[in-house]
Amino acid sequence: MPTPAPTQLIRPTSPLRPSFHFTPNSGWLNDPNGMIYLDGEYHLFYQHNPAATVWGPMHWGHAVSRDLLSWEELPIALAPDDIGAIFSGSAVIDRDNTAGFGANAMVAIFTHAAKDKQLQSLAYSKDRGRTWTKYKSNPVLQPPDGQANYRDPKVFWFAEGKYWVMALAVAKEIWFYRSSNLKDWTESSRFGADAGSHGGVWECPELIQLNVEGTDEKRWVLVVSVGNGAPAGGSGVQYFVGQFDGVTFTSQDAPKTIRWMDYGADFYAPQAWNDAPHGRKLALAWMNNWSYGDKTPDSGGWRGSMSLPRELSLRQDGKDTVLVQQPVRELDALNKPCVEWDAKKIDRQTILLDQACGSVQEIRVTFRVDANTTASYFGLRVRGNAAGATVIGYNVQHSKLILNRSAAGPKLPGFAAPHLAPLEPRQGVITLRILIDQNSVEIFADDGRVVMTEQLFPEPGSEAVAVFAEDGAVDVESLAMYHLSVN
Ligand code: FRU
Repeated sequence: MPTPAPTQLIRPTSPLRPSFHFTPNSGWLNDPNGMIYLDGEYHLFYQHNPAATVWGPMHWGHAVSRDLLSWEELPIALAPDDIGAIFSGSAVIDRDNTAGFGANAMVAIFTHAAKDKQLQSLAYSKDRGRTWTKYKSNPVLQPPDGQANYRDPKVFWFAEGKYWVMALAVAKEIWFYRSSNLKDWTESSRFGADAGSHGGVWECPELIQLNVEGTDEKRWVLVVSVGNGAPAGGSGVQYFVGQFDGVTFTSQDAPKTIRWMDYGADFYAPQAWNDAPHGRKLALAWMNNWSYGDKTPDSGGWRGSMSLPRELSLRQDGKDTVLVQQPVRELDALNKPCVEWDAKKIDRQTILLDQACGSVQEIRVTFRVDANTTASYFGLRVRGNAAGATVIGYNVQHSKLILNRSAAGPKLPGFAAPHLAPLEPRQGVITLRILIDQNSVEIFADDGRVVMTEQLFPEPGSEAVAVFAEDGAVDVESLAMYHLSVN
């Protein structure tokens, strides 16, 4: 059955409604799903409960964007049915009609959450994702007996082998399958029983081939969301760098190695767009944490935002190969310069900046950290008012970036704790690119090598920005602030 016509959705205004991050018009949002690019449109489907601002019977909501920053919400794509609710999954364009739904059909591969088990199913659209038909012989993949956690299929076309690959989260492992037609799946391998963090259930795998910056070399990265035990508490995202031959993923790391994609509290279930143009590798995530996700301030009929879309690559870092995330370059079109500093020494002081940049802004700052740095702790205070501010600080002795949002939030377990990311200076400097929207901060340190993403719920009008140094001096090499506006 095609999806019925939508009810009229009203976008309520609210001071927490972000300006360049996706939020649903109303209701609840969690994971991004079915991300696919087709004919100029980036499709973003998402876990959605249209009836309430908490998790409930899951639908796939739907939005499209041409620039990755402004989004148009479309009718709900997939609604619960006789088999179950619609959990996370992915989408492909079936150019060669391998599934028989028609050449170039958009095919969604998703988890059907039945009462006692999780099954993988298909739906297809022949009108650029506007209307959907569920496959009549769903499900296409059943769990082994007794396997309760069997979900979140990420499917892509493995060009070298000319077949489809599925990565599936199964309890605390990722299982790989292959298929020639999206309907019949054969298990090919399993990964993870002895690798990485097992602090919680594994969810929402992403497997993507990335370029190593400045080389022709490519490696595969397996991204796995973990329900608990992340560095900032609660849920978070780990990744593995290695090789994938169409059958088996082999990590280059010792099993004990754990790599975190984001050290902030609010970055979960990232997924990359299939078929993004020009070979770009673009991903975004749900900007929330399962440990308090449904208790954040209800923002006036909606709850939940996506992170900023990020361009992914790998960087050779000494002997190591690490994931790098950069805000998509489309963002550069929005920024209007509003403050610019020449080099300045900050010595045991706090300098309040011009407030004209508003609450939606970008800050680019470079601090020199070397033998002349006598400050023990320095950084920025953002989204401030007379009562306090969110602090983005750097602890020199321990080489740690520290994000403290205790002034910008509700009293929720784990929300106010300072969160830390390891950050060694490179060539004697710390560089931070900070993106601030009405309800969030995203910090890209060292050109995207270390990232922190968190929600903020400051008092409306908290717009003050300050630079500080404690116990001694730090040199600011450069600082620029920009107002960001999608209008
Ligand atoms: C991850 C997740 C998925 C599941 C979906 C349900 O956040 O738990 O594993 O498919 O959310 O909404």
